[in-house]
Amino acid sequence: MERTLIIFKPDAMHRQLVGRILARFEDKGLRIAAMKLQQSPRAQVEEHYAVHRERPFYNSLVEFMTSGPVIVAILEGPNAISVVRNMLGATNGQEAAAGTIRGDYGLDKQFNLVHASDGPETAKTEIALFFKPEEIVEYERVTDPWIVSR
Ligand code: CMP
Repeated sequence: MERTLIIFKPDAMHRQLVGRILARFEDKGLRIAAMKLQQSPRAQVEEHYAVHRERPFYNSLVEFMTSGPVIVAILEGPNAISVVRNMLGATNGQEAAAGTIRGDYGLDKQFNLVHASDGPETAKTEIALFFKPEEIVEYERVTDPWIVSR
């Protein structure tokens, strides 16, 4: 069982793709452990993308991620981190394979619809940056695939 942080970026919100993309994660069997709509404070976005601070696209990325509301969520399931990354596809929608979320809905490297944690340590840090512990709900579903197949 693993948790990953995802962000529906302002382009997914603007294009009203959140429901369709979220349905893909639900269809896969992933469980929502937390979710909220927010206008991200600049400082939070700067911290989230601190690793990219020296990259030429950093300022534009921070502008983009604070340009409108986003939906932040935690998805959980077996190997959720790599499962979600694989479902998203390559960063650049032009290169992402057909059948992936970015491959099916995107054509850009910055406006790439959804962010997802890239490893267990990042997931922990990102979850702590966006959610208080009491905002994360622990529950089981009888239909959780990893429970049914036990
Ligand atoms: P994300 O997975 O959120 O992590 C870093 C983000 O930076 C990435 O998605 C894109 O939105 C953005 N990004 C990555 N590479 C580039 C690039 N070459 N030009 C512009 N934006 C980029």
